[in-house]
Amino acid sequence: MRIFDTTLRDGEQTPGVTVTPEQKIQVAAKLDELGIDAIEAGFPIVSQGEMHAIKSIAKQGLKAEICGLARTIEADIDAALRCDLKYVHTFIATSDIHMQYKLKMNRDQVLAKAIKAVEYAKKHGLQVEFSAEDATRSDRAFLLKVFNAVKEAGADRLDIPDTVGYATPHYVADLVREVSDSTRLPVSVHCHDDFGLAVANSISGINAGAACAHVTINGLGERAGNASLEEFVMALQCLYQKTHGIKTELLYETSKFVSNTMGIIVQPNKAIIGENAFGHESGIHTHGVLSNPLTYEPISPELVGRKRWLQAGKHAGAHGIRAMLEEFGIKPTDDQLKIIVEKQKNIADKGKAITTADLLSISGEVMGNSQFEEKFKLYDFHILTGMNLIPTAVVRLNADGKDFIASEIGVGPVDAALKAIQKISGEMANIKIREYRLDSISGGSDALAEVTVKVEDKNGNVVSARKAGEDVVVASVQAMMDAINKVLLRKVLYSR
Ligand code: KIV
Ligand code: ZN
Repeated sequence: MRIFDTTLRDGEQTPGVTVTPEQKIQVAAKLDELGIDAIEAGFPIVSQGEMHAIKSIAKQGLKAEICGLARTIEADIDAALRCDLKYVHTFIATSDIHMQYKLKMNRDQVLAKAIKAVEYAKKHGLQVEFSAEDATRSDRAFLLKVFNAVKEAGADRLDIPDTVGYATPHYVADLVREVSDSTRLPVSVHCHDDFGLAVANSISGINAGAACAHVTINGLGERAGNASLEEFVMALQCLYQKTHGIKTELLYETSKFVSNTMGIIVQPNKAIIGENAFGHESGIHTHGVLSNPLTYEPISPELVGRKRWLQAGKHAGAHGIRAMLEEFGIKPTDDQLKIIVEKQKNIADKGKAITTADLLSISGEVMGNSQFEEKFKLYDFHILTGMNLIPTAVVRLNADGKDFIASEIGVGPVDAALKAIQKISGEMANIKIREYRLDSISGGSDALAEVTVKVEDKNGNVVSARKAGEDVVVASVQAMMDAINKVLLRKVLYSR
């Protein structure tokens, strides 16, 4: 099965997303590493920057075929040629609603334009994939007439776009069969997610004989997006035993990379790549998963480059909490465990999310072991920031029983505050920030900010911590403190 990725074209058409040419080149390299067969690198005619990016991608020597989008217009095809592309994806709408209101052309004019463009692209030596935009809402007889005509004009591949996600899996299957039987050309499906059916429709198309699906990382794309590559590939592999060239263990990493680059957060409950896809809190589920992961995990998280994680909280049970503590080498007795579970449930009942540091501190209290306590305790911090001022932070904290004060300047208030904390933690444990991420959870100037900080100590222990709050600097400082405490505890407790 062939995977055609359009993250850099349809994905970039996600409202609010634009990426620089350099970022496009980086994403293309990641897609190639993932094992994509064909990458739609962009729409050459739209801008000089786009053309520069596509041209650069085309000369990277990637294994994937590199393609560019073009309307059935000679200027668009010329733009693709100027990018040194060997492969063009050309399209024109074939539905009555598009022809009448958008193109203002009749059927004969559309047919003639499609043929002319395909002939022109073939004359210039391009591989041509032809899309009949809004195919699923097009008159079937006219659609087949267009597809057969472009085949005669030399098209190598045909694509059936479900442009507004209006088709059902049955309809897609039927259409794929009819187009394949009638034209005998390799057929692709390009499904949008307006009704949440993009992946189901793409699978249905493949099962009906389509040779290829157009997909995007994280399901990015116009409006509700396109079929998500991760869901599509894993469903076909695991539920339909289809083969493909994707290195599934790179799926999560690639998804994160694209999310960070394009600035679009993946919803936590998204299949395969969402944060919660392999997280368990409820006692019944954690117990099951710890006895045999297949009880509540349809696939192993490692298959898609992920790790299972357990969450403390009011639904958590003794098995899950014991497993979480074991990660730190802590082994409470059954009685102690019972009290720990109760205590953390009482805190969770008050609406507080239980962090690992909270759980360890409760365990320390119950087991009478101060080693489980947080090593770093923040007293307070002050920030000086504004226009024509160098952002400066002063942080006061207690580290391992000793009081410290440190000041630092930075490119902004967060940078200054985290540098001041690192100045102290650096002396104690040589801790470095590996990753810092800031996401906005809700809109408006009072939006909740969610900060994720990943730190590494000198022994290569990596942990991450997350904090949400209205104040970006406070959330960043708290996440940093949590991450340092976690990594220090891991070190202390494991070396006992
Ligand atoms: O959704 C669509 O119809 C498209 C075309 C350009 C193929 O993206
Ligand atoms: Zn599309």
